[in-house]
Amino acid sequence: MYEVKDLIRLALEMRARAYAPYSHYQVGAALLSKSGKIYTGCNIENASFGATNCAERTAFFKAVSEGERAFTAIAIAGGAQGKEPVGYAYPCGLCRQVMLEFCEPDFQVIVAKNEEDYICLSLENLMPHGFGRCPDLC
Ligand code: THU
Repeated sequence: MYEVKDLIRLALEMRARAYAPYSHYQVGAALLSKSGKIYTGCNIENASFGATNCAERTAFFKAVSEGERAFTAIAIAGGAQGKEPVGYAYPCGLCRQVMLEFCEPDFQVIVAKNEEDYICLSLENLMPHGFGRCPDLC
């Protein structure tokens, strides 16, 4: 059984894997599936900036491509390269949209500076009135 601190520790560790030669802003994420597995991710930048992938989406796409479809929580940690996070790295709009696709309203988003300093938010609070899966579409 994983705890919040385990997810945060992994998110912090994953920052070291970030490929961020343009922004020098390293983000790590650790995503817990309902099946009990953790999928990690980091941001991966590109010379064509729009091709950059965020840490959260890296984790989601790894998980979904492994067959996962249901998730409990994600921890996110971000900050300037070579430094401990100073602020909370809230997920961008695109990542929130991806969360909406695969997660229930009570999915927990944990933004962390370190294992002791973090905020937990539900997806419902983070992305109210979003465009999601609906009966008209599927
Ligand atoms: N980034 C993330 O990894 N997650 C977010 O939710 C926001 C931004 C990354 C993308 C880019 O590599 C760097 O942070 C600066 O925007």
